[in-house]
Amino acid sequence: MRKTSRLEQELRLELKQIEEQGLTRKIKNLRFLDAVRAIDETGKEYLVFSSNNYLGLTHAPEVIAAAKSAGDYGTGSGGARLTTGGHFEAAVLEKELAAFKHTESALIFNTGYMTNLGVLYGLVKPVDVIFSDELNHASIIDGCKISKAKVKVYRHASAQDLERLLEEDETAGNRFIVTDGVFSMDGDIAPLPDLVKLAEKYNAILIVDDAHAVGVIGADGSGTAAYFGLQGKIDLQVGTMSKALAGEGGYVAGKKIFMDYLINKSRPFIFSTALGPAPVAAARAALDLLRENKNGYLHKLWSNARLMRELLSKAKIPLMAGETPIIPIMVGEASVAMEIASQLADKGLLVSAIRPPTVPKGESRLRITVTAAHTEEQLKQAAGLIIKTWQELGRKKASE
Ligand SMILES: Cc1ncc(COP(=O)(O)O)c(C=O)c1O
Repeated sequence: MRKTSRLEQELRLELKQIEEQGLTRKIKNLRFLDAVRAIDETGKEYLVFSSNNYLGLTHAPEVIAAAKSAGDYGTGSGGARLTTGGHFEAAVLEKELAAFKHTESALIFNTGYMTNLGVLYGLVKPVDVIFSDELNHASIIDGCKISKAKVKVYRHASAQDLERLLEEDETAGNRFIVTDGVFSMDGDIAPLPDLVKLAEKYNAILIVDDAHAVGVIGADGSGTAAYFGLQGKIDLQVGTMSKALAGEGGYVAGKKIFMDYLINKSRPFIFSTALGPAPVAAARAALDLLRENKNGYLHKLWSNARLMRELLSKAKIPLMAGETPIIPIMVGEASVAMEIASQLADKGLLVSAIRPPTVPKGESRLRITVTAAHTEEQLKQAAGLIIKTWQELGRKKASE
């Protein structure tokens, strides 16, 4: 074996520092029994309140059947869309997504993450300026970086701060405003009416990432534009099939000219093998169920989110205010968030401890996500465990 390199020594040191700060990340391997129950490798069972499977459609019989039968067309696509990997189903899904989002056109990427990279890399030039909310998702931040444009970060959800930056900007290039629709770690909703006005006033292109909004908000579940009645006012809407749409893959929806350009210029689109038939078929089936809303998925999701918020607030658990199924419990210290999450896991409940660098230092939290698939009994059981663990920890801290 080669002797330990300097790089390995540096990495070991850095990992040790990460561990000392309580920030080590570890993969948890699970197998799902249904949309909200999973087992780990030892067979221990968990109730899951940490997934983005908002409508529980990963286990809808129609979605599973669609994925299985698409397997008859092969397990992989064999190439990028522009070479050999362009299946009929992907093109059909793009038409369906465009119709659902009330746009002319849509284009699929392999993940939501790659969509943000692909859109920002593809459309933004180094002479341009991107105005980006300070709490935007990492994939937007990374997309801003690879675009090489100047990036101006505005205070979270502050149209006032954004306008200040737009006013003082003197770029000769194009302006882009980019925001999460529903913020992934805080669960709040972007102030879209203000952003639309500012985009119009300052001639900027508005990009909204609806990863946590599709299948979640808007009367038809189509996301932030529908929630505010602003369909047709957003230049580009990014989305993912990995959350409410129960599978894998991402997409962007907007005018056809943008899609035509991305197909020709966006490297994350051009140089990656296309999704196979099964995830595309799964997303089509999930989208069908969402559009029909036959089982009242959206209503169930909203009422479940309301119930969980009520149960926790009544017990004075410090929730971040909001209305979406992303429910952050503010903890502060990363080590405390980890301790609570690990105690809950021991009791068979999975919630995420969110720590820096995902959120700012001192703002670590437990992130609870409610889905339409949770039963009232499961919601009460989870709330009870969270409240008990929280109170026990409070008592322990008080006696120290
Ligand atoms: C706001 C937002 N955009 C994009 C992504 C990336 O989507 P995907 O998981 O499909 O890569 C996520 C989460 O994963 C997200 O929260």
